[in-house]
Parts: sequence; structure tokens; C-alpha cells
Amino acid sequence: MEQNVDLIRSTDIRTSAGVFTLTLTREDFSGTYPGMVRYTLRLVSDGQTVSVFRTNTYEYSPTVPLKAESVALQRADEWERNLRANPRDFAEYLAWRYRPRCMPIVPAADVMVVQGSPRADGNSSILAGWSAEAARDLGRTAQVLYLGDMDIRPCIGCYRCYNTGFCTFEDDLTGVIHAVKQAELLVICSPVYTNTVPGGLKIFIDRFQAYHAERTLTGGGPGPKGLLLSVAGRRGRANFRCVTAVIDAFMRNLGIEPAGEILVDGLDEIRDVRRIPGLEERVRAAVQACLAPSR
Ligand SMILES: Cc1cc2nc3c(=O)[nH]c(=O)nc-3n(C[C@H](O)[C@H](O)[C@H](O)COP(=O)(O)O)c2cc1C
Repeated sequence: MEQNVDLIRSTDIRTSAGVFTLTLTREDFSGTYPGMVRYTLRLVSDGQTVSVFRTNTYEYSPTVPLKAESVALQRADEWERNLRANPRDFAEYLAWRYRPRCMPIVPAADVMVVQGSPRADGNSSILAGWSAEAARDLGRTAQVLYLGDMDIRPCIGCYRCYNTGFCTFEDDLTGVIHAVKQAELLVICSPVYTNTVPGGLKIFIDRFQAYHAERTLTGGGPGPKGLLLSVAGRRGRANFRCVTAVIDAFMRNLGIEPAGEILVDGLDEIRDVRRIPGLEERVRAAVQACLAPSR
């Protein structure tokens, strides 16, 4: 048993369908969040895991009259009771519950570019296109994600991702995380909306909590580099204060190494980033610098 794992219960259940072993363990996750504990109920038959149920203390909001440990114990009692009563069907049902998740496909690429504006053909879109072209010019693959076209539900703060390392929702974000993990560079293109990132991009960012959970459970490792390209209508660097803070927190939280930013202000007057002399070259150079081999 691992160092921070305590065995709470282990029961052998002898049935007409064979012997099942049900174990309940408790893991201290306080290194991730204060007081976080994860409980794992595992059913094993013939040395093979039939099913797993996990729950953690952060799943239960302040007004929910349940405790993770009592939920785990109740679940253990329920599994034992049902296995004794109807071993074959119940084991089959549990195995079905534990089936592998289907992974929505987002093509992997060396450079993943997030187009975070709801305007499909706006300034962020132009920056995204320049970034992808710059990567392709170096012989790298690039993929632009248009968040407006994707099915990404907002995070509901259930903390279940700390049970398993993946989100409770199976939507487009599942595939995005898979692709970002493998990328060399993540480029975020965002307009300033009411001093921060647009809602769709914030939803995208919050849902990456599942990747934080996965990194916590697996020990993490170095992530891709991260580049921020942002546009604002008003003039002045102060307009980007929240965008840079949000994106910096997002990247650092996930082991993404912030590798630069280009902040373009005054677009209410200029309207079109293509009218800014030298900007395309700056964007291309920034992307290519991130892809240069480190010495
Ligand atoms: C809802 C909304 C809120 C905005 N809020 C700000 C803001 O707080 N500060 C600012 O400088 N520009 C603001 N802008 C202007 C945009 O940042 C600017 O038009 C930008 O070029 C839009 O980028 P896009 O073409 O990629 O969508 C806002 C625009 C919209 C539509």
C-alpha cells in the first residue's frame, strides 16, 4: 500500500459467481488542497479490477448533509449487499459503469492555438491564423480551436476530477486537454471583454481544472510553452491587467511555461490588426522563438 493510503476495509464476498474482494481505502490529498481526502472503493475478481468508485471531501458543498467517508462506506455496503443477492448481474452492471470513456477527438498538433473571441472573423482570429502559419512555416503542425464552435460546458465545481483525473462531462474539452498535453506550444488569442477574457474562454480555462487534477494524481511533468496574444479596444496597457493575470494563473497552474505575450491596444480606432505595421512579423517571430530548440 502506498505511503499516504490507509486501508479502511477489505471484505471477501463468496458468491455463486466466484469470490469478489471489496476494498475501501483513504488517501490524504492535503498536499493539493487543505483537508482533501479521497476514498476509493475497488471491486476485484480473479486479480482483475471489476469496478471502482471514488469520492473526495471537496465534492460536498457546505449545505450538503453528506460526508465523503459515510458515502463511501454506504456504497461499499450497497455493493456487498447487491453482489450477494445477484452476483452475476450486479458484477456485470458494475463493470459497465467502469467501462472506458469515449474520447472526443481533437487532432493533436505541435502548436495548439485557441481563438478565444466569439467573433469568428475578428482580430483574435487573424492573430490565431498568423500563429498557425508561423508554426507551419517551420514544418510544425498547428491546429486552431474556435471555442465558439465547440461544445464545452461550464465547470460545476464538483471536484470529481480529483477522484479520477478527468472531468465528469464528456464534451469537446476532454479531447482538447488530450491534445494540449501533447503540444509543444499553446497560443491563447483573446480580446479584452469588460477588462478580462470573454466568457467562452473563461469557461474553457475553468474546465482545465480537470487537467490540474490529472497532474496532481499522476505527478505532472513539464507542459507545453504558452504564448498570449491579446487585443483591446481602448488604449493603454492597463486594459490587459486582468487578462494577463488570468492567463498567467491558468498557465502556471498547469505546468505551462509562460513564454511571452503580445498585447495590442487601441483597436476601437484602428479596427483591424492587419493595419498595424510590423505586427504580423512580431507575432510570427514570437511563435517561432517559442519553437526554437532551447540551448
Ligand atoms: C462585450 C465587449 C466588451 C469589451 N470590453 C472591453 C474592455 O473592457 N476594454 C477594452 O479595451 N476593450 C473592450 N472591448 C473591445 C474589444 O476588446 C476589441 O473590439 C477587440 O478588438 C475585439 O477583438 P476580436 O475582434 O478578436 O473579437 C470589448 C468588446 C466587447 C464586444
